[in-house]
Amino acid sequence: MAPTSLPDTTDRRLASLLTLFAHNATIAISGARIAKEIGVSRSTVWRWVERLREVGVRVKGKPNTGYFLESVPDILTPDLIRQQIKGSLFEKKIHHYFRTDSTNRVAMELGSAGEPEGTVILAEEQTAGRGRAGRSWHSERAAGIYVTLLLRPKISPVLAPLLTMIAGLSAHAAIQAQTGLQLDLKWPNDLLLDGKKMGGILTEMHAETSMVKFVIVGIGINVNQETFQGELGGIATSLRAATGKKQSRLDLLARLLREFETDYNRFLREGAKSATERFTSVSSYARGKRVRVTNGNESFAGVTAGLSPEGLLQVQREDGAQVTVLAGDVTEAK
Ligand code: BTN
Repeated sequence: MAPTSLPDTTDRRLASLLTLFAHNATIAISGARIAKEIGVSRSTVWRWVERLREVGVRVKGKPNTGYFLESVPDILTPDLIRQQIKGSLFEKKIHHYFRTDSTNRVAMELGSAGEPEGTVILAEEQTAGRGRAGRSWHSERAAGIYVTLLLRPKISPVLAPLLTMIAGLSAHAAIQAQTGLQLDLKWPNDLLLDGKKMGGILTEMHAETSMVKFVIVGIGINVNQETFQGELGGIATSLRAATGKKQSRLDLLARLLREFETDYNRFLREGAKSATERFTSVSSYARGKRVRVTNGNESFAGVTAGLSPEGLLQVQREDGAQVTVLAGDVTEAK
């Protein structure tokens, strides 16, 4: 079935305009030169400059005096990403949006339309970013990483949730390599720093009874947000807030994709064990943590007791029974 509700990806020529500006940072380039290099009319250049301004790229100047960038923008255009992930599974198909509703929703549609394994869907801003359990994901423009990976692993549907853990581990490693910060992972999908949320993962899948057709792994990381409004203020943080330094989203995304590819291949080769073992060694929640598990109206307290082979959390309840958590929210119980 042909996709029906896909927004237009960032026009490749608009992205080349951005690359041209970035390569000539702070030097004014005349509208005529841009028009010649990209092969469009001068009035089209003017319209595109206006579009870049609308999405927050700070372009100064006028057609006759020339245009220049006030600062090099940290925009995740496919060309810039490809330069950093040469030879990767993820370099082949990158769909980039300045604004979309949700990269997971777009990925679901692309998956159904037959897009290949390794397709990457990226947005600078999401207007209806999805979180776990029907929650929303705040997606301020060009502040965070909002990315979804389309995968077609030949695995049973019961193993698909492990991809959430693998994404968590990859994000954990990428963040540590770039910032030195050592985050905590809360089963199944939270990246935390001092109990505050730095990122999250939402994995969705399309499966037949015994085989996955495709899985989409949506990753959100709070990178350069300076503040969080309202109730988010008390529960969310960003890498910039934690390090006191603006971080390159481009470098972090490239690291994340490289880490994920390595971890994903290892999982396909060796099975679940390496992922569950690594998760257990990195996450303070996997073993020996007093937690409360809430699922709808039900709730119980207990102590975590490791992961099952499929990556499900085991909890020793207060009444002594050991249960496997299939879904629900896990919070630390003091
Ligand atoms: C959570 O912790 O609740 C999961 C958050 C997942 C957010 C990411 S941002 C990119 C992708 N697109 C979405 O709509 N959601 C995920």
